[in-house]
Amino acid sequence: MAEQDKKIVVSGIRSTGNLHLGNYLGALSKFVRMQDDYDCRYFIADLHALTTHPDPKQMQENVKSILAEYLAAGLDPEKNTIFVQSDVPEVSEMYLLLNMHAGIGELMRTASFKDKARKALGIATEGDDIEKEIIGNNTNRSVNAGLLTYPVLMAVDILIQRANLVPVGKDQEQHLELTRRFARRFNSFYGVDYFSEPVNFNFGANAVKVPGLDGSGKMGKSEGNCIYLIDDEKTLRKKVMRAVTDEGPKEPNQTPSQPVENLFTLMELVSEPDVVAHYRNAYADCSIRYGDLKKQLAEDILKMTLPIRERILDIRGNDQYLSKVVAQGAEKAREYASATLRDVREIMGIKKL
Ligand code: ADP
Ligand code: TRP
Repeated sequence: MAEQDKKIVVSGIRSTGNLHLGNYLGALSKFVRMQDDYDCRYFIADLHALTTHPDPKQMQENVKSILAEYLAAGLDPEKNTIFVQSDVPEVSEMYLLLNMHAGIGELMRTASFKDKARKALGIATEGDDIEKEIIGNNTNRSVNAGLLTYPVLMAVDILIQRANLVPVGKDQEQHLELTRRFARRFNSFYGVDYFSEPVNFNFGANAVKVPGLDGSGKMGKSEGNCIYLIDDEKTLRKKVMRAVTDEGPKEPNQTPSQPVENLFTLMELVSEPDVVAHYRNAYADCSIRYGDLKKQLAEDILKMTLPIRERILDIRGNDQYLSKVVAQGAEKAREYASATLRDVREIMGIKKL
C-alpha cells in the first residue's frame, strides 16, 4: 500500500518505570504487529509521566528504558516514527488550545482522575465526594491540575497526528472516548470537519486486561504485582510460584475464584490452547495442582519475555543509537504536528496581525 493511503496509528506509554506484561500484551505487542500495515507513530509519554513522577533525576533514565524496551520488543525505527513526547513542542501548544474546549466537570468524572486524585490525597475508599476533598483546602496534599487535564494532553497526542487507530489496553478506553468527544466538539464549535474520531485497535478480539499476580484485577506498575519484561529467569519464576491462589476446587465444575481465574487468564494469553484446556479440565475434575500450573505458566511467560530481555540489555547501553532513533523520530513527528497546529490556530482565529 502507498504510504499516504495507510491509516495513521498513534500510541504511547508513560515513562514511569520498566514495562510489564500488561503493557506488553495490552499495548506494545499490538504496536509491533501493526508496524507493517499502518503509518505508525509511537512515542514515550514523558510529559504525562510528570503528573505522577516529577523526579528530574529519573526522567531521562525512564525515557531511555522505555525506548530500549520498544526497540527490543521489535519496533523498527525505519518502519515507524518513534519519538519522545516532549521533543514535539507543538503538542504543548495544542494542549493549551484544546483545554479551552474541555469541561472541568467531565474531566473530574474520569475514572483515572478519580483514582489518581484519591491516591494523591491518601483516600482509600471509593466514595463519590472526592470532589469536596479536592476543592477542600488541605494544604499538605493536593491534586495537581496536570492530572485533571491528563485526558486533554492525551487527546492532543492523538489528534495532532490526525490518527485513525489507537492501540491501547482496556483501561484507556475512557480516555479515547473523551478524545472522540473533544474532536466532535471542536468540529461542531468551529463548523468544520477537521478531526476524525479515532478508535481503539485490537486484532479481532476485545481489548485485553492482564490480571495481577496478587489476585487483583489488573497488573499495574503502582500495584506492585507485575512481571517485568526485564525480569531475569529466577525472579520471574519466583514471582509466578508465589502468585496468590486458593485451597483448590472443592467440587467438580465449580467457578474458579478470582485469583485462580487470573492465572487461567494469564495462561490464555501466553500458552498454547491445548495447555490451557488441560489445566481448565484438571480444575473442573478437581485433579489440578496449582504448583504444576504455575510451573507451566512461568515456562510459557519466559519463552515470550527472555528473548526481549536479552535485547533490552543489549540496546539499553547504546546511547548513541537511542539518541539517533529519537532525533529522527522527532523530526518526522514535528513535521506532522506542526501542520495540524497551523490549521488549528487558523480555525480558532489566531492569525498574525
Ligand atoms: P500502568 O497501568 O502500569 O501504569 P500505563 O498506564 O503506563 O501502565 O499503560 C501503558 C499501556 O499499557 C496502556 O496502553 C495500557 O492500556 C496498557 N496496560 C497497562 N496495564 C495493562 C494491563 N494490566 N492489561 C492490559 N493493558 C495494560
Ligand atoms: N494515557 C496512556 C497510558 O496511561 C498513555 C498515553 C498518553 C497515550 N498519550 C497517549 C496512549 C496517546 C495512546 C495515545 O497508558
